[in-house]
Amino acid sequence: MPNNSEQNNIVLVGFMGAGKTTIGKLLAKSMGFSFIDTDEEIEKEAGMSIAQIFKNKGEEYFRELESDFITNLRLSNCIIATGGGMPCHNDNMTKLKVLGTVLFINTPYDSIIERLKLNQDSRPLLKSSLSNEKDELLSLFSKRQQIYKSSDKEVLGDSNPCFIVEEILKIVNS
Ligand code: S3P
Repeated sequence: MPNNSEQNNIVLVGFMGAGKTTIGKLLAKSMGFSFIDTDEEIEKEAGMSIAQIFKNKGEEYFRELESDFITNLRLSNCIIATGGGMPCHNDNMTKLKVLGTVLFINTPYDSIIERLKLNQDSRPLLKSSLSNEKDELLSLFSKRQQIYKSSDKEVLGDSNPCFIVEEILKIVNS
């Protein structure tokens, strides 16, 4: 698994609704790796949901929690699903690359919108973007693409999750 890191973790990045958690769990199972979701871990540590952290403490505080979390992470043989904004703040992409191979799940905007309509409540940024300006979400999506594209590897996220996992296995072993 050639990359610049000494760790063998696989770090999944991509926009909200790209499929990081679903794919990450399947990938972990097929590789015999463990799985963590950074949002879930941050919620456990903070004793609050992501929505509550945004509401009570603000986005900047959440971004600090994200950076602290990955800076202090020491693990191996793990699939790490990140929050959609994590690589886009505080030079976190560099920190993620230290943890292992960073893989961008590149899911088209239209598919993302369809998926996200079903699950708005737990995603504070989405809630405000969808209710205010639809263009705001597209603009955030476009702005982040460049950072996601600086990942070590990339896979298209617009098909059956089992197929995507097969593709990832080929990519990471090539
Ligand atoms: C965010 C994405 C969310 C979560 C938070 C902020 C973002 O994670 O970290 O609501 O900035 O895109 P998911 O990508 O798992 O939805």
